Amino acid sequence: PLETRTDARGHLMIGGCDVVDLAQRFGTPLYILDEATLRAACTQYVEAFKRHYAGDFRVLYASKAWSNLAICAIVHRCGLGIDAVSAGEVHTALRAGVPGELVYLHGNNKSEAEILLAAEVGATVVADNWLDLEILSAISAECPVRVMVRVAPGIDIHTHEYIRTGHLDSKFGFDPSELAAVLAYLARIPSLRAVGLHAHIGSQSFELAPHGDAAQLLLEWYPKALALGLSDFNELNVGGGLGIRYTDDDDPPAIDEWVGTICQAVTRTCNTYNLPLPKLLCEPGRSLVGPACATAYTVGSTKTIPSIRKYFSVDGGMSDNPRPITYKALYTAVVANKMHDGRREKVTVAGKHCESGDVLLRDVELPPLERGDCLVVFSTGAYNCSMASNYNRIPRPAAVLVSDGEATLIVKRESPDDLLRCDCLPERLQT
Ligand code: LLP
Repeated sequence: PLETRTDARGHLMIGGCDVVDLAQRFGTPLYILDEATLRAACTQYVEAFKRHYAGDFRVLYASKAWSNLAICAIVHRCGLGIDAVSAGEVHTALRAGVPGELVYLHGNNKSEAEILLAAEVGATVVADNWLDLEILSAISAECPVRVMVRVAPGIDIHTHEYIRTGHLDSKFGFDPSELAAVLAYLARIPSLRAVGLHAHIGSQSFELAPHGDAAQLLLEWYPKALALGLSDFNELNVGGGLGIRYTDDDDPPAIDEWVGTICQAVTRTCNTYNLPLPKLLCEPGRSLVGPACATAYTVGSTKTIPSIRKYFSVDGGMSDNPRPITYKALYTAVVANKMHDGRREKVTVAGKHCESGDVLLRDVELPPLERGDCLVVFSTGAYNCSMASNYNRIPRPAAVLVSDGEATLIVKRESPDDLLRCDCLPERLQT
């Protein structure tokens, strides 16, 4: 989790930087990414594999959580590869210096251009459906490609009674009933180097057992693949999904426990089937970058509805954090310039967008708020900036990287002209 301190003036400090100061220097809303927290999470994944697994492994960062040059460069320096879901994410990883061989391309409707880009840079393509396989086999005649196969294993993490064999109603991956045909197809096309199977069973999960079960279910296919002559079948990707603590009610397992559960399931299954240990991959996003970032806002107007609710509005909202309005997601906040203020008032923090549902925090206890206060929302690193929009023509915020008391801009704030960058005014409307 993010380590914060409070200085003598009662200001919140992140990464050795005074957050009130950062808000003044860089403006708000501001994403503040703590490099040490991000690196620590990467290291925890890597160390957990070293501790629990005797085979080869690679941790990939699911860059859909937040893709930019600085983050890709940091996670790569920690030894991670990149899970990308678009040409844009592949491009970002490559430009950040990640070698193509460490990139895995996902997606349920990849374009031919995206698959070709991945193949050309030596990335692995995770085939999600028959169209992927068709495009891959056409491309591979010229350019051999490493391929994994994504399966929807029919394991539901959100129910206790998960179904092991049922058809999972997901748009991603092959249904298990198709897998035999997929493997046979791959066996007929040697220029497609089929290296293994992939499954991702969900996100923000606090459960451990289903991830181990999914790994076991996939491994049961490896003897069949080898029997079909797919001799390169030696990688297993168990996806991501480990949840994080957004509020005190959340109690996620530790990274070490999550990795340990999967490693034990894989090791046990390999012993049972007398299989060599596969190269084990996982691709967490949220648990790597989520806790490492906080968003700073400036408090503005207020509205009191007698005996119902007191609203305070901040200078951002659903355009920089769409998770509350999209998923009813809950967050925790503090007032960065009032950390020593022990008073509490129940308030609702609204965003500035023209949408009633644009509420960041409902009925939270905070020190009495005033115009100009610096409100900080925690755990905004995952699926905030990456899902940000320009709704209401609000420029997207800047992001700074903080480390050892230094703050460096990693994403520039959009300008009013940036908002017009792609607009074209027809000539006849110009006078
Ligand atoms: N691998 C695959 C194939 C995925 O689909 C995902 C997430 C991940 C890995 C990373 O999962 P994580 O470790 O971050 O849970 N926008 C939503 C989350 C969507 C997750 C999509 N897939 C949210 O804000 O909660």
